[in-house]
Amino acid sequence: MTHPEAIRQVLVDDHEQYVKGEMPNDRLGSLLGDGLFLAEGDAWQRQRRAMQPAFFREQIEGYGESVVDHTRAVTDGWDDGETVAIDEVASTLTLRVLASTLLGIDAEAERETVRRAATAITQRYDTARLGSYLPEWLPTPTNRRYRRSLSDLHDLVDREVAARRSAGGQPGDLLSMLVAASDEGAIDDDTLRGNVVTFLFAGHETTALGLTYTLYLLATQPATQRRLRDRLDATLDGEPTPADLRNLPLLAAVIDESLRLYPPVYTFFREPTADVTLRGYRVPEGSVISLPQCVVHRDERWWDDPDSFNPDRWLGETDRPEYAYFPFGGGPRHCIGMRFARLELRLAVAVLLASFRFEAVTESLSRTASANAKPTEPVVLRVRKR
Ligand code: HEM
Repeated sequence: MTHPEAIRQVLVDDHEQYVKGEMPNDRLGSLLGDGLFLAEGDAWQRQRRAMQPAFFREQIEGYGESVVDHTRAVTDGWDDGETVAIDEVASTLTLRVLASTLLGIDAEAERETVRRAATAITQRYDTARLGSYLPEWLPTPTNRRYRRSLSDLHDLVDREVAARRSAGGQPGDLLSMLVAASDEGAIDDDTLRGNVVTFLFAGHETTALGLTYTLYLLATQPATQRRLRDRLDATLDGEPTPADLRNLPLLAAVIDESLRLYPPVYTFFREPTADVTLRGYRVPEGSVISLPQCVVHRDERWWDDPDSFNPDRWLGETDRPEYAYFPFGGGPRHCIGMRFARLELRLAVAVLLASFRFEAVTESLSRTASANAKPTEPVVLRVRKR
């Protein structure tokens, strides 16, 4: 389904007539259980309501300092002229930020448990790897690693939840909201664990890819990189804060444009629960409808010169239909982490450009369609100290 009007109809106007359906449930059901990503109807609504406060603007802005500190930490020790696999750095960074801000996990040993689980989950569901098509019960090395690391993660979550229950006062992060929801009987402990895994799955690699593609695009476009750095230098006084971001439309435009050209989530699915008509076509109940950002974001009907990286297209007025662009989905089930991801991406880029220039070593980016659209090879950049 590639017409923005039809996409809006499915995601917004008639959303009650659609479910996520077979495609995501087959692949992710045993991993995410009834967590927020896959739940439907009342069970979804209850969870979304319980977790939403962790993503309110004021709460998200409180995570800004952590993004800045973790970004500094992952670049500590970079030498002038060194080459770095930026996809790996981005992955480390987004996982640390997610674990510490949403789950309150900061200790190195615990972080390692989370990292192992996140890697195992990503590999288990990496459709570019043949093993991901084998059933979960087969004792392949990937499956064994996956089960062991998932069980370590569940233990860690159980310990953390027990500690929070006995401590009484809650820090107000996502895990607190989940514990409160479970104490009120809105979700059971399995769903609580399923949600921790849900957030590691939905929030980690997606944001890391967004950062990787943005830095790669800036590295291949030195003039845009220079212009953005000049804006940052002129606007910032010390470390960037969430409040500064309001005065940096070019930074937002660079991120928006990168998520347009290289949407980390390149397609997703819906199924109608009754026969529907979409732009004159009859679509029978239970059909799998694909909503492909990777096609719509480069459709010449809505985008001039769609394959070029041009942040300026975001800075003026436009009469483009709203759903010609939907990197975070849309309607009531839009990405709950959208504000979080956009804040993290902007702050991380601001911190990085304040200290470094980036040059592309990887000459052309080739991507593969896995759970997300990811690079087939490491994305290598050379860093120059300013
Ligand atoms: C650039 C980064 C990200 C992108 C491109 C992205 C994209 C998306 C998309 C397209 C959906 C809708 C899927 C559908 O309707 O079937 C979604 C849902 C979701 N995302 Fe994200 N996401 C990102 C970051 C995050 C982060 C940082 C988190 C958590 C902190 C997160 C958590 C979720 C969850 C839990 C859902 C399911 C929401 C629901 O069904 O109510 N995402 N995301």
